[in-house]
Amino acid sequence: MELTIRPLREEDIEALARIEAESFRMPWSARDFADLLRHDYCLYLVAEADGVPVGCAGMRESFGEGNIDNVVVARDYRGLGIAQKLLAELFVRGRERGVEAYTLEVRVGNAAAIHVYEKAGFVAEGVRPGFYERPREDALIMWKR
Ligand SMILES: CC(C)(COP(=O)(O)OP(=O)(O)OC[C@H]1O[C@@H](n2cnc3c(N)ncnc32)[C@H](O)[C@@H]1OP(=O)(O)O)[C@@H](O)C(=O)NCCC(=O)NCCS
Repeated sequence: MELTIRPLREEDIEALARIEAESFRMPWSARDFADLLRHDYCLYLVAEADGVPVGCAGMRESFGEGNIDNVVVARDYRGLGIAQKLLAELFVRGRERGVEAYTLEVRVGNAAAIHVYEKAGFVAEGVRPGFYERPREDALIMWKR
């Protein structure tokens, strides 16, 4: 498999919206992704496997901090290190923009994602009670400084 990590492009949007729909109860729509392309403070990366978008990860930058969201990999491509590669590339590009710290929220029960974030250097620093809906669940607030 040939894997490429590169910035989000308009032609990725439909495939990513499908991956979202199979992965989240409250998925981002194609329009949500299209909005990202319009803003300079957004940096979204896509993982392409043999020419097909199979995952993404992104951040919104604000005052030297990167708020990471939408880390997702298509079901058939999970467990291959793709999320870790997406995050590593996000940090390289973030550093180039002067981002010094990253934060994210994750469901307390999402063991796979928490494992990926801890491997990438994130540390849990707090909990937002009842942050998520459908189902209601606390969010772990993680930081990488
Ligand atoms: C979380 C997600 C993005 C990870 O993507 P991925 O490409 O499969 O991740 P990677 O292959 O880079 O790494 C997965 C790691 O989690 C581990 N893992 C998998 N399931 C696990 C579980 N239930 N508990 C603990 N660790 C788990 C794997 O062993 C692997 O770790 P390793 O490299 O030390 O062996 C993917 O599972 C996904 O899209 N989930 C649905 C969307 C989601 O929850 N996104 C996060 C929102 S905050």
